[in-house]
Amino acid sequence: MIDKEMEEAINKQINEEMYSAYLYLSMSAYFEKIGLKGFANWMHVQYKEEMDHAMKFYRYLIERGGTVRLYGIKEPPHEWKSPLDAFEQTLEHEKHITKCINYLVDLAEKKKDRATFNMLQWYIDEQVEEEANDEEIIARLKLIGDSPQGIFMLDRELAQRTYVPLASEE
Ligand code: FEO
Repeated sequence: MIDKEMEEAINKQINEEMYSAYLYLSMSAYFEKIGLKGFANWMHVQYKEEMDHAMKFYRYLIERGGTVRLYGIKEPPHEWKSPLDAFEQTLEHEKHITKCINYLVDLAEKKKDRATFNMLQWYIDEQVEEEANDEEIIARLKLIGDSPQGIFMLDRELAQRTYVPLASEE
C-alpha cells in the first residue's frame, strides 16, 4: 500500500500531466487556425504523449493499491503571439513539470519508497528529452525569424512527427 502523502502527490501529478495534454491540444488548435498543419501535428502528438504520462501514473497508483483522484483541469490559454511564443511557453511549462518530477523524486527518497523512486526514473529521462526538443525548435524559430519560407519548411518537417504509444516503446 502506497504512503498517503505520496499518493496525494502522484494524484496532483496526474492532474499536471492532464493539464499538459490540454495545453498542447489547445496549441494544436491554435496552429490549425493559423494554417500551420505541421506544427499542429507536432502539438497533437505531444498531447497524446502527455495523456500517456498521466496514464502511466494512474496505472502505477492502482497497481500500488492507491486511490486515483481526478482533480479538475484548469483551462489553458487559447492564443499565442507567434509560433516562437507558443514554443517558449512550452519550454517554460516543461521546466515547471521537471520541477514537479524532482519534487516527487525527493518525496520518494524521504519516504524511502524505492518502487516509486524507480518508476520516476523514466520521467526524469523523459523531461531531459522534452526540454531538449523544445530548445531545438526554439533555436530554429529564432534563426528563421520572420521568413515565411523558413516557417513553411519547418512546418513540413514537424508534420513528420508520429505518435508512438508508450506501451509499445517499453
Ligand atoms: Fe509529461 Fe511534457 O511532461
